[in-house]
Amino acid sequence: MSRHILTAVAWPYANGPRHIGHVAGFGVPSDVFSRYQRMAGNSVLMVSGTDEHGTPIQVQADREGLSARELADRYNRVIAEDLQGLGLSYDLFTRTTTRNHYSVVQTIFTALHDNGYIVERPQLSAISPSTGRGLPDRYVEGTCPICGYDGARGDQCDSCGNQLDPQDLLSPRSKIDGEIPVFVESAQFFLELPAFAEALGGWLQTRTDWRPNVLKFSQNLLKDLRPRAITRDLDWGVPIPLPGWSEREDKRLYVWFDAVIGYLSASVEWARRTGDPDAWRAFWQPGADTGSYYFMGKDNVVFHSVIWPALLLGASGRPTGAPGAYGELALPDEVVSSEFLTMEGRKFSSSRSVVIYVRDFLERYGADALRYYLAAAGPESSDTDFTWEHFVTRNNTELVAGWGNLVNRTVSMVEKNLGAIPPAEELLGPDQEALAASAAAFAPIGALLGRSQQKAALTEAMRVVTDANRYLSDQAPWKLSHDPARRDTVLHVALQLVDDAKTLLTPFLPNSSEKVHRMLGGTAAWSGWPELREVEDLDGGPGYPVLMGDYDTEAVWESRPIRVGQRLDKPVPLFAKLDPSVVGDELRRLEEAAGRPERDRA
Ligand code: MF3
Ligand code: ZN
Repeated sequence: MSRHILTAVAWPYANGPRHIGHVAGFGVPSDVFSRYQRMAGNSVLMVSGTDEHGTPIQVQADREGLSARELADRYNRVIAEDLQGLGLSYDLFTRTTTRNHYSVVQTIFTALHDNGYIVERPQLSAISPSTGRGLPDRYVEGTCPICGYDGARGDQCDSCGNQLDPQDLLSPRSKIDGEIPVFVESAQFFLELPAFAEALGGWLQTRTDWRPNVLKFSQNLLKDLRPRAITRDLDWGVPIPLPGWSEREDKRLYVWFDAVIGYLSASVEWARRTGDPDAWRAFWQPGADTGSYYFMGKDNVVFHSVIWPALLLGASGRPTGAPGAYGELALPDEVVSSEFLTMEGRKFSSSRSVVIYVRDFLERYGADALRYYLAAAGPESSDTDFTWEHFVTRNNTELVAGWGNLVNRTVSMVEKNLGAIPPAEELLGPDQEALAASAAAFAPIGALLGRSQQKAALTEAMRVVTDANRYLSDQAPWKLSHDPARRDTVLHVALQLVDDAKTLLTPFLPNSSEKVHRMLGGTAAWSGWPELREVEDLDGGPGYPVLMGDYDTEAVWESRPIRVGQRLDKPVPLFAKLDPSVVGDELRRLEEAAGRPERDRA
């Protein structure tokens, strides 16, 4: 049965280019999942965009001497380019400063407010004494009053996972400049989280197929649900849609409130852009054939397993009330969260230049090399460390000597000796076994991909490659010139194994699978690639770049017979072998960047 699958990808802040730690969390996993689901015959809607409000943007804008809007414009484009280069197959990658987004956010606010889940009350908020500006929760650091961890933030303690308010922190200080904040009282709107405790608890209890870390962490969060402020003293954000508030210049909706609603607003924008304004509904309204999967790094879990579900419930009139203008909205089927990637033993940090930007990586090594590494060795279920040495080794042994070599020697032999795909004559035992094993790999690997067990899925797919290489060495067609019929049969079987492996590896390596598809005579697009398009704002705001694409392509999740008689050209190399000196060069680059004073860094 074909399903409607929403792939909801965490929205990167438009405050700088993306580094490989970012895309290890939200990027590659969401794309592997979406490409697989499309190949399996499902309708996929993969949406995201840049997250452009709130302090993360304001702080960086001050650093770069730009307005918040100018900064967002700059990095919205940079990030869209980074993600395009990596081949992330968004149906729409947009931004949170569109008029459509403002309107959807305000409509959801109104539904929650009408249902009584948003109430106004005074709150102490942190102010920077030197600038007079509000200090957002995440920018106040201090000691956690619950577990004593010293690096807790004003929204949350990453050590024990509890939600905090900035004034709870012991010895609070500003993350921006170390100043001690002052707390002043001001009116804010709060989301009544405790009203959803029972509904959220019941729902999480049914989520038994989540990654255990994520489920446990989420269930823990329910033990201490308190009302949460969803407005801030700030002038950069979505205005509060209530009389007396919407015209105020000093109050805005909290960036996390508007950002999570982006999943819905981007779906609505996608539907409007494709000419069927209601098309988003099939992905959002509860029904037997829908599924929604949210991809992110672990610091985002609370917003997706507690806050966003609470907003969806409240806007749907649950536990009490009436559905708002968007009707009933489905809760996430799965929150797929990755752990953290570190970098040569250190935490990624743009400000300390412990960083590898996606753009630089792609320029030097290409999209599939990065995608492969992150899928094979990324932080799927525990923190992992990126090292250049590890990257070079895996690239050279698995991609170059394993998969690349299989394609290259098989296609070259056929091209040189025959020029076209030969028919198979009589299939012997080893031929039948090899073909059967490869065809049988689709179901279990597909099942793993459906559950986002991507490392295991990739291991199994690479096993098919290893087995094919072994088949070829065992059958040694190069020794069979005295028996052309047997030689051709072996080459036919080997090409079929190459074609199967190409399909199995497509979610991970769309670029090289596209090349193999063409080498074997494919003419239409195989798996698709996102395009950067300049579009008009749908409601009269300034234009902007988006990522969209045509992914309704040839790729199908099954073994398809190769075309006998198809002419083959000389193979093109799939991957570049990296010299071991790359390791030293990259480490030197890193040390140089880290040694430079911050103001000189890009
Ligand atoms: N911008 C946030 C971050 O980088 C993620 C936002 S996810 C969203 O941590 F869904 F809320 F947008
Ligand atoms: Zn704590």
